[in-house]
Amino acid sequence: MKWIYGHPRLYDFIDSFFSGSRSGRARKKALGGLAVESFLEIGAGSGKSFRHVTSGLTIGLDASVTMLEFARRRVPGLLAVVGDAHRLPFRDGSIEVSFFSYCLRGLAEPMDAVREALRVSRKVVIVDYDKPALMPEILWRGVVNKFGHAVFGSRDIDFESLERLAGRRQVSDLYGGLYKVMVLEGVGDAGS
Ligand SMILES: C[S@@+](CC[C@H](N)C(=O)[O-])C[C@H]1O[C@@H](n2cnc3c(N)ncnc32)[C@H](O)[C@@H]1O
Repeated sequence: MKWIYGHPRLYDFIDSFFSGSRSGRARKKALGGLAVESFLEIGAGSGKSFRHVTSGLTIGLDASVTMLEFARRRVPGLLAVVGDAHRLPFRDGSIEVSFFSYCLRGLAEPMDAVREALRVSRKVVIVDYDKPALMPEILWRGVVNKFGHAVFGSRDIDFESLERLAGRRQVSDLYGGLYKVMVLEGVGDAGS
C-alpha cells in the first residue's frame, strides 16, 4: 500500500489542495445528505465522507489501521473495520448503502470489489475522478495519471464495465466530467 495511507492529515491536505476542494464537493454531492439504516464506506480513509450521511449503523472499512484510527477520532460512533475491499466480512444484503470514494482506482481488482459491495449491500454509490472530455490526453496521461499513480497508486478504471455489474444504474458527471458519480443496484450482465 502507498505510504500516503499512513499519513491521514497529509492525505487530507493533498486530496483537498490538488483538487481545489472539488473532490470534497463531489463526495458531498454523491451522498446528498443520505439518511439510511446502515452505511458502509469501503476504503474509508480518514473518514471525510461520514459527515454527509445520517445512519443508524456507520461502518468504515479500510486496509490501513492508521487511517481508521484517525477516522474513529473524527467520527463518533464509527464502527471501524480493518479489512480488504475484495473480501468484505459482511453477510449478503446486510448493508443498506455501500460507498466507494476515490478508492477503486487504487485497488488491484476494482471489478471484484464492486461485485463484493453489490453482494453485501442493497445499493452501491461510487464517486471517482475521470478524464474530462475537454482535457487533452497528454495532460491526463502525462500529469494527472502520473501524479495519481505516484501518490495514491491510482490506475485507469473501466467505468463502463463497472456499471454493467449492476442491473440498475444511474451515472452523472460533475465539473465537466472530472468526477463521475454512479449509483448501482442489483446484479447486471457482468455480475457473474
Ligand atoms: C484515495 S484513499 C480514499 C479515502 C476516502 N474514501 C476519501 O474519499 O478520502 C483510498 C483508501 O483506500 C484504502 N485501501 C487501499 N487498498 C485497500 C484495500 N485493498 N481494501 C480496503 N481499503 C484499501 C487506503 O488505505 C485509503 O485509505
